[in-house]
This record gives sequence, C-alpha cells and structure tokens, in this order.
Amino acid sequence: MYDLDKIRADFPILSREVNGKPLTYLDNGASAQKPQVVIDAITKAYAEEYSNVHRGLHFLSNLATEKYEAVRGIIARFLNAGDENTIVLNSGTTEGINLVAYGWAMPRFEAGDEIVLSVMEHHANIVPWHFLRERQGVVLKWVDTEADGSLDPQKVIDAIGPKTKLVAVTQCSNVLGTVVDVKAITHGAHSKGVPVLVDGSQGAVHMPVDVQDIGCDFYAITGHKLYGPSGSGAIYIKPERMAEMRPFIGGGDMIKEVSKEGIIYNDPPMKFEAGTPGIVQTIGLGVALEYMMELGMDNIAKHEGGLRDYAMQRLTGLNWINVQGQAPGKAAIFSFTMEGAAHAHDISTILDKKGVAVRAGHHCAGPLMDHLGVSATCRASFGLYNTKEEVDTLVDALELAHELFA
Ligand code: ALA
Repeated sequence: MYDLDKIRADFPILSREVNGKPLTYLDNGASAQKPQVVIDAITKAYAEEYSNVHRGLHFLSNLATEKYEAVRGIIARFLNAGDENTIVLNSGTTEGINLVAYGWAMPRFEAGDEIVLSVMEHHANIVPWHFLRERQGVVLKWVDTEADGSLDPQKVIDAIGPKTKLVAVTQCSNVLGTVVDVKAITHGAHSKGVPVLVDGSQGAVHMPVDVQDIGCDFYAITGHKLYGPSGSGAIYIKPERMAEMRPFIGGGDMIKEVSKEGIIYNDPPMKFEAGTPGIVQTIGLGVALEYMMELGMDNIAKHEGGLRDYAMQRLTGLNWINVQGQAPGKAAIFSFTMEGAAHAHDISTILDKKGVAVRAGHHCAGPLMDHLGVSATCRASFGLYNTKEEVDTLVDALELAHELFA
C-alpha cells in the first residue's frame, strides 16, 4: 500500500508555503527534497558519530568509517551490483563520468576513435567526452531521438563502427523523461566488443535498476536526486573495467604507501577515491536509498506512472502547450513550451507566484535543445511524493500564465 499522505509527511519541506501558497514542488529533476530520516541521519552523524574515515584508530573514526563504508553495500543492493567493491563512492554522476573519461578513456583512446552518444544526453555525459575530442581528436557520434522523443536502441547499435570505443547513454532523459532500453543497447554494443556507460542520474530515481541484468560497464548515480544529500553519489564499474582504469584524482586514502620514489595504490575501489570524502553526505545517501527501497522501487514507479498518465492527459488537453517528448513508458518529466511569446522563464515566474516550482532553461542539454529547435523549455518533473492534485495546481497556474501572455 503506497500511503501518499504518510510519505508526504516524511518530507517536512512539503508542508511549507511559498509566496503565500502551499508548495507544489515539481523540480525533482534538478534536485529532490529530503525525508526526515535523512535529515536526522545527517544531524546524528555530526552530533554523535563524526570523525574522519579510514584514518584513525580511535572510537569515533572507526564508527564513522563503519557507517560510511556500509553505504557501499547499500548502493550495491540498490543497483543489484552484487559485489560492493564494484561501487566507487563520489560526489555524483558528474564526478563519476569524469573518472571514466580521465581514468579509463583518456589513456586508451586515440585520434579518430569514436564515442557514440544520444542527442538527449545531459552535459555531464557530454562535456567530459568533448574534452577527449578537444585534447585527443576523439570523434563524437550523435544518435537523434525520434519524433516522439524515444531513442531507438537499434540506431545506437548501428552507429557503432570499427573505431567506436564507447557508447555513453542516459537511462532516462532529464528533459523529455524518455526511458532508454539500455539493456538492448548494452547487448548490441557488447556483441561488437564496445563497453557501455549508462548515466543513471534520472533513471535510478524512477525505476528499479539491476546493473547485472543491464550488463553495462559503468552506471553513475547522483545522491541529491535520490532524496539524499547533495555532494553524494557513486558509480558502478564492472570489475574488468575497474582493472583497466587508472586513478584520476591523487591524494590521501587512495594510496597504501608513498615514498620519494613512488606510490603503491590502495586496492580498488578506494584507489579511485582520493582525499576526505563526503562522509556525512554519503551516510545520508545510504539512508535515502534504504527509504526508497522500503517504499519499493516498483511501487514508486507505479505511483509515478499514474502521475505521468494524468499529467500527460491534462497537459496535452491544453492546446496552447507543446509537450516535448511523448515516448511510451516515459518517466513523469514534462518539458513544454507555450504557444505565443511567453518565454520559459516568464512562465516559471508566474508559476512560482502560485507556489509551483519548476525549472526553466536549457536543462544542461544543449544538443537536445538544438535538435528540438527551442532555446528553453519549462520542465515539471515529478517525484515519489507528488500528487494528482499537484498536477491540477500546475495546470491552473499554466492557465493563468496563458491568460497573462495571450
Ligand atoms: N541535471 C539537473 C537537471 O536536470 C540539474 O535539472
């Protein structure tokens, strides 16, 4: 039983007002709100259990290390990764993909080698690959989305040529909500001997993830979108790929010994985790993932599926709203433009006056904006605590904006 009232009560911020109206928080794609258990875990970690990790032999350092390291296992369970040593802890997907770019791809790729990307990638899964283009002459090959915003896995597989060294795709578009069949892509890419990186920043939020079933080589997640603290995250890396990877950031913790002559690295995954990490953030992420798993990822997906269907019906009923991306089975993420002159920023300002929080802009997805032929959209992105009544509030606020700008 998905008890929405109880779930909403778990998130204290949802009961506040904004501009004199009850908050309608529809900016979950940018960052999700935090349940009280996460807030309490952060407070407890700082108030009672805080010290640096992996370093001390004293009580608090051991306790903090134990709490921090336990999160590796929680993430492995959340992603069904099997072995917790496949999980590199970090600050989020951006850091995870940069680790793969610097630690795995840069030493291995040569001028003319190719990386296949979809046109709807987030900048976090584009800019690190542009670094390889700029610095090493690597070629980026782009696969377009279909008219409904879906991504045809076969087109991604067909784009793989003899020079392709990596396929990097999102599991769920942060703009269109399109869910990508990353398992089919991985299967096709592997049959051509090409590894696959999946950007799971949005996917892991909205559906159960099984990295062993997908078979991908890399799967990156971001804690603050998963109802956890900002500055937390992880990347799953298949043992074969991890063995091929060299460290990216050097410093304490990732070494066993350092002398004037050289270094002996720590064993993976710690070899890839330099410096004092986001200790409390990671502990908070562990609690957030346990909260999600307790609700059940299938239940969350089912609830959000209901919101998606209702929002799609209400938004497409407004003939002056153009919903970008209507792929079947998409996540409850709606980007739209309004007929006429109203700019996305102006629309979002009107919505804000009604207490409705959405994001307006390019959503860190420049190539997709170019592909869609728009400079900006408004985006309403739903999470596990949103309600159908909030869809109605969004539509009422949009009607007001339309009256003002028509
Ligand atoms: N990636 C975040 C978004 O889609 C910031 O808004």
